[in-house]
Amino acid sequence: MNKNTIKCVFIGDSGVGKTSILLKHMSNSFQAHQQTTLGASFFEERYYDNDNNRYSFQYWDTAGQERYRSLCPMYLRNADIVIIIYDLFFTKSQTSLRKWFQEVIRSNNLDCKYIIIGNKNDIVDMNTFIHHDNLGYLLDYLKCPHLFVSAKTGNNIKRLFDLIHEIGVEVVEKKLEESIPEENIQITNTYKPNRLRECCNF
Ligand code: GTP
Repeated sequence: MNKNTIKCVFIGDSGVGKTSILLKHMSNSFQAHQQTTLGASFFEERYYDNDNNRYSFQYWDTAGQERYRSLCPMYLRNADIVIIIYDLFFTKSQTSLRKWFQEVIRSNNLDCKYIIIGNKNDIVDMNTFIHHDNLGYLLDYLKCPHLFVSAKTGNNIKRLFDLIHEIGVEVVEKKLEESIPEENIQITNTYKPNRLRECCNF
């Protein structure tokens, strides 16, 4: 994968609004009856920073339905940013957060960044919102950003994607710092054909 490509994977229960959030950002649209995702959908966004460096953000919108759960680790593999979404109105989706986090662990991805999103803040009185233990646990453990958004009204959607871009650029810079420049790579030729022949009795 190109070094300037950032893989972002959206996970969370079915109906929490993963597709709606992405569509709001990508096409400023919202469907009151959004069809459930089958398998996964993919969106790509070109992004330019202030120095005109080009980045490619790849957004994987995974299916939340239980029957697609086994595919999840495959999409999560090599993800740079994992966006875990729950529905502010539907408390059960908060209890699932821990389960979704375990999917990331199952995918062997130990190095990704996280963002936790509570969606549908248009239908919830945020003054009465209560954190479920599983949400508290994840926030304490991951110490990652946590935002309340609405795909319907667009509230905080720009803020969410500004954050994704910011984290993505940092991820790319870190990858570039860690990659070894070619001139520093020394190739040592240890190939000894005669001895190899002896030992293998060719
Ligand atoms: P799966 O594809 O099944 O995993 O679901 P999903 O997480 O992609 O949810 P989706 O975007 O399909 O949204 C589910 C339903 O919630 C749809 O009917 C949306 O219109 C509705 N919805 C999504 N976001 C919001 C929101 O911010 N506010 C309100 N009121 N409804 C929303």
